[in-house]
Amino acid sequence: MPAILRTSFVLVAGFLLLACEDTGGLSALPQSIDPVHVTGTNLVDGELREPELRVRFDRPLLPISVLRQSLVVVTNDNRSVEPPVVRYDPVLREIAVASPFPPGKEWLTEGGYYRLVLGVPDEGATVGGVRAVDGGTLARNATRTFGFVVRGAPTPTTATDYCRDLQPWLSARCGNCHGASGGVLGLDVTSPAGLKRTAIGVVARQTAKGPTVGGTEPSALVLAQDLPRIAPGDPSRSYLIYKAFLGEQPPASAPIGCPATPFSEAERGEPLADRDRSALADRIPGGAMPLTGPGATRDELLHLSRWIAAGAVLPTSCDACR
Ligand code: HEC
Repeated sequence: MPAILRTSFVLVAGFLLLACEDTGGLSALPQSIDPVHVTGTNLVDGELREPELRVRFDRPLLPISVLRQSLVVVTNDNRSVEPPVVRYDPVLREIAVASPFPPGKEWLTEGGYYRLVLGVPDEGATVGGVRAVDGGTLARNATRTFGFVVRGAPTPTTATDYCRDLQPWLSARCGNCHGASGGVLGLDVTSPAGLKRTAIGVVARQTAKGPTVGGTEPSALVLAQDLPRIAPGDPSRSYLIYKAFLGEQPPASAPIGCPATPFSEAERGEPLADRDRSALADRIPGGAMPLTGPGATRDELLHLSRWIAAGAVLPTSCDACR
């Protein structure tokens, strides 16, 4: 089979696979007239210098549309490589394309030339490719192919320490309502033990299927069903992030007392456009968190999504402030 045909075949096969999955009401979405564009990647002069290839988008993506079938990585001669692991960070509106293998086993070859190709759905199709929360597809005329050479030297990124960067913020901003005794909706974010018991892997009530939340019919206006409050390894399926993200504010005038590690400007990315914030809010029941008081800063949200992406590992306890 000619290489180009083979690439199309892989993409088409991916879309068919996606079509067979539970799309959670995706087909019921209105076709948005606002397309999605790529705003940047972490490639530097055509080189990949980090372990993951990251691609940023201008619009917030529907988590269930971010699948490894939505893209393909091919070699210089158009052979597709082992499908990568694909993660989505809702705070940065960024997908990370990473090795599917355990550490130590090579995926892409150092010095090799590869291309990442993002798929777009066929004309009129309701599934395929990454989608905005309101159904918008990748702009057909936009750049969807990114060539790169693999260079091993990883650039250091800001590391997140749960006790220093997250616990003080969660306790100060959320603890009034989501504390140890009788936390709202049974959620306790004020200690590692509380999070472990009430958040890690616990389905958010507002996304739960069933008669308690607006009937059993899947609604086109829910981001996704049965989302855990925190899904270790997957920020895009962690409902708590979306609730806090909707309340994002510039750094508060009254800091919380335990300074978290700051991110660089490049790592922080662009804030969400107003129309996209309301498209997201339309699909999230209830209000933005915290209901009262200063909202999360970009750095706090980034620490949250980094920590979740790294597996949401919790210590047994935290000192008051480190
Ligand atoms: C002033 C009280 C208050 C504060 C402070 C507050 N919340 Fe909430 N939270 C609520 C209420 C009330 C609800 C349910 C209604 C709603 O979602 O608007 C809720 C719902 C939630 C839910 C949905 C849980 C589920 O199972 O569906 C999450 C997640 C959440 N809050 C996270 C947070 C986080 C994170 C913070 C801190 C950044 C925070 N909340 C701060 C009152 C609060």
